[in-house]
Amino acid sequence: MKQEILLKDIDHILFDEDEISAAVKKIGKKITEDYNGKTPVMICILKGASVFFTDLIRAVNLPITIDFMAISSYGSSTQTSGVVRILKDLDNSVTGKDVIIVEDIIDSGLTLSYIKSTLEQRGVASIKIAALLDKPARRQTELSIDYKGFSVPNEFVVGYGLDYNEKYRNLSSIGVLKREIYEAN
Ligand code: IMP
Ligand code: MG
Repeated sequence: MKQEILLKDIDHILFDEDEISAAVKKIGKKITEDYNGKTPVMICILKGASVFFTDLIRAVNLPITIDFMAISSYGSSTQTSGVVRILKDLDNSVTGKDVIIVEDIIDSGLTLSYIKSTLEQRGVASIKIAALLDKPARRQTELSIDYKGFSVPNEFVVGYGLDYNEKYRNLSSIGVLKREIYEAN
């Protein structure tokens, strides 16, 4: 389906549906191999990772469980505030579990470092990070991404779960938002 109403605000597409799908399947296959014989819990960081998450879990051939966490880090601007707050915590305990955190994009890295240390304090057996996108230019903290889809340039990207002001999450490709859209606000 051509989403022309959404695409008119996009400067250029970085990754189309097929490229994203191939990357997600590759990560799913790697997780399946790495966790052979285990039952990891895959944690979706809402809302940005939701689209990636639902595709990724179906690319994993293991008896996983899932859980959800919501964190605030971005208000409506395009810059991270550095302030991280849990808006919705996990439903189930992760103590003794092999945890895979699933995130849409690692930008400054502050959000994920916070989540990672919070979960480590709960006594997980192991913890790994799967991120569809990596924006290394803006990293403010050391963070290793165990499963990564793509690196992106230092631009504001939307689609496939990623938003600007809560919009564009349903765009099926990933693209760079036109500057005039966020500079007008
Ligand atoms: P960090 O704490 O700076 O790594 O921020 C990570 C969060 O910021 C991600 O989960 C996204 O929600 C958001 N974010 C960072 N860069 C972008 C972007 O280019 N587009 C949309 N959201 C972004
Ligand atoms: Mg997010």
